Amino acid sequence: MAKHLVFYGTIVHSQDIDHVDILENTLILTGEGGVITALERDVPPNQLEEKLKALGLDTGNHELHQLHRAEFLIPGFVDTHNHAPQWAQRGLGRGLQILDWLNQITFKNEAKYADVRYARKAYTQAVKGFLNQGVTTASYYASLHGPATKVLAEICFAEGQRALIGKCNMDRNSPSFYVEQSAQESLAATRDLIDAIKQLDPSVSLIKPILTPRFAISCTDELLRGLGQLAKEDTDLPIQTHFNEAQSEIDTTLSLFPDFTNEVDLYSHFGLLNDRTILAHCCHMTPYETQKFKQLGCGIAHCPVANTTVGGGFMAAPIREFLEQGITKIGLGTDSGGGFSSSILDAMRQAFIVSNAKEMMTGGKDKSLSVDECFYMATLGGAKVCGLDHKVGSFAVGKEFDACLVRTCESGGEGMEWDLDVPLGVMTPIEAGDNPRTIFEKFVMSGDDRNIARVWVKGGCVK
Ligand code: GUN
Ligand code: FE
Repeated sequence: MAKHLVFYGTIVHSQDIDHVDILENTLILTGEGGVITALERDVPPNQLEEKLKALGLDTGNHELHQLHRAEFLIPGFVDTHNHAPQWAQRGLGRGLQILDWLNQITFKNEAKYADVRYARKAYTQAVKGFLNQGVTTASYYASLHGPATKVLAEICFAEGQRALIGKCNMDRNSPSFYVEQSAQESLAATRDLIDAIKQLDPSVSLIKPILTPRFAISCTDELLRGLGQLAKEDTDLPIQTHFNEAQSEIDTTLSLFPDFTNEVDLYSHFGLLNDRTILAHCCHMTPYETQKFKQLGCGIAHCPVANTTVGGGFMAAPIREFLEQGITKIGLGTDSGGGFSSSILDAMRQAFIVSNAKEMMTGGKDKSLSVDECFYMATLGGAKVCGLDHKVGSFAVGKEFDACLVRTCESGGEGMEWDLDVPLGVMTPIEAGDNPRTIFEKFVMSGDDRNIARVWVKGGCVK
């Protein structure tokens, strides 16, 4: 029988968008399948042993991890928009508009994944790299290649990362070396991939296929219609695409689809918008489109790093407006190559920075985001966007244990006596006057992967 996990210490998570819960002296246990079987808060240290006995814990089958003062558990991060093949091109092509960046940098890079040996190497690095940074769930766009995308699915499954995995559909407006020859070819490869992923993980314990029309510019009507049909036939299949990312992209899209005046109506027409859809960017929204999002229950992948690096203009998605409209199905995306960072911590900080700019740009109308709101988007909000909040995103009995152990200092000192302990990495040091809230804020604003000491997915250690 596998060893189950027992932790005692501080856990930090969101149960709603408004505030982060910091639970001290908390006992958390996992059982079969990495499911959380007990979560007891406010257990005084002198009652710990008694409590463990009462829970029927026999020490032979359990390892107790007692966290020190400068350590805490958080839910694993959810990256709701990630281009796995762009792992190796992050940082390139700055200053280019989105469509030029795709043509000059990205398509050439993604074309390399025609070679499955290259794909295996690069995807192994990418998946390990994301796990190392605490990304326990990712919604991946692979390249357009079916075989390489199967390899990505195998690697996620083997390395233990929870993932939605789709191959890009693109049968037009792409270079001759990186385009599918017909809608039929693209749809057939998509069906094959869906079958292959379902065979790899029949109980959907970790990985799941996702329909991935790259964006309407790269898809013919026939292809979009065929994908809408697949979404209709399999009502468990999620869908992802890029949405209202940049004005140049919107203008090009509407010129290709003259029957539509906005992207919501376009993607809806093809049956691609529902409560399983993840829409990346959503920078330029009309009130009509925001209302439609709400009615349809679409999830939003906010990619603040990419939105302020690729595109040739400053584009702050209207997150505060979404929240004011009661839309909270919002997560964060690294966007991998579109941004420059593969860190959800960076995405949280950039979400915060961009929201400050938005507050200025709207004359104070759109209040900036709080640290708590950014943390929600990085965890529970992202889980909602990926349709996984019944399993992950926060800690609760019955959910699966996807978590990061955050370690802020070299040692935990003794109680409150130690002062200015040696920080791990470049994180703001912890001092005697700190409390769990200030330690948490210091981590969110200045920590990095060096502070993510251990990572678990479904109760299994992946770092
Ligand atoms: N639109 C279509 N493809 C892409 C992509 O790879 N990255 C970004 N940021 N936008 C896109
Ligand atoms: Fe993207």
